[in-house]
Amino acid sequence: MKIDGKPYRSVWVDREDGWSVRIFDQTKLPWDVEILRLADVAAAGHAIRSMQVRGAPLIGAVAAYGLALALRADASTEAMERDAAMLGATRPTAVNLRWALDRMLTRLRNTPLAERVRTAYAEAALICDEDAAQCEAIGTHGLALIEAAARVKAGERVNVLTHCNAGWLATVDWGTALAPIYKAHDAGIDVHVWVDETRPRNQGAALTAWELGRHGVAHTVIADNAGGHLMQHGEVDLVIVGTDRVTRTGDVANKIGTYLKALAAKDNDVPFWVACPSTTIDWSVADGVADIPIEQRAEAEVAAVTGRTEDGSIATVRVAPLGSPAANPAFDVTPARLVSGLITERGRCAATADGLRTLFPEHA
Ligand code: MRU
Repeated sequence: MKIDGKPYRSVWVDREDGWSVRIFDQTKLPWDVEILRLADVAAAGHAIRSMQVRGAPLIGAVAAYGLALALRADASTEAMERDAAMLGATRPTAVNLRWALDRMLTRLRNTPLAERVRTAYAEAALICDEDAAQCEAIGTHGLALIEAAARVKAGERVNVLTHCNAGWLATVDWGTALAPIYKAHDAGIDVHVWVDETRPRNQGAALTAWELGRHGVAHTVIADNAGGHLMQHGEVDLVIVGTDRVTRTGDVANKIGTYLKALAAKDNDVPFWVACPSTTIDWSVADGVADIPIEQRAEAEVAAVTGRTEDGSIATVRVAPLGSPAANPAFDVTPARLVSGLITERGRCAATADGLRTLFPEHA
């Protein structure tokens, strides 16, 4: 996608040295556009853990490059397995992390030591290219939903609500939930996005609003609690969210608060779609509520907020009383019964075991 007319991906290999890895520091957005250089596996692990990069497909891609960086230092099998385990332990919920590392290890375990670095960079590049292509395809399959809504509204503005950031910053390019919106905007459809602020870390207010604004897509940031009210008043035509892990039965883990939006959508007959590349499907899990691990993050993210003050400096201020404990589950699970359908790179399907099997018969 473009920033000020210049095309970028969210992760790339430095064009000058040909080996270090470049990312946007997402903890600095939307205030500063800062590009970081990752030069070793520890920096890659830190980037994922501290959420300098975040979003399910992107953390998989950065972990893949992290393993390539690790192999530059030590290509032995022992070091490779140790470093892959370190990267895999950085965040627990998004299955793309495990998927990318498993794919890298499967390829590298059968590769002679002398070839491992070159092979790792090539495989990581392939993971990135495939993610960009999958997300663009999700855009095309999701565009049909927005086109249909535009037809029903006879060309009147289509309002889409989204939660968290599932745009190009969360993937390698295009995004998942935002890809259909970019496609619709580029096709000339009058589309407007209700952007949930997404407390506690505000990925919506900070990242989704920034991305959409840079691309020229009409949007409005709303408090997380506003969605139900807007749906009751006919202000939301459809909801599209991303996901960190989908079970083989169609349960969906995504950023905390997604489940409440799905409940409100059900109550108001608003379609609730989930954009899901196949790399986010965990075929080993059937019951999302019971078996998807939910990341528990620091209390400070709930008890305080960070933003830019009027003098331009970045400040973190506490909003909860000193001494009040805070809890911070970072994801929730929306049961498949509340999901209108999944938008994958192979097309749309019901959020059911049968629906997924139809699109992905190789996992039957
Ligand atoms: O904690 P985050 O910011 O990594 O959570 C990200 C999300 O929940 C996204 O909605 C999800 O990864 C989909 S990304 C295309």
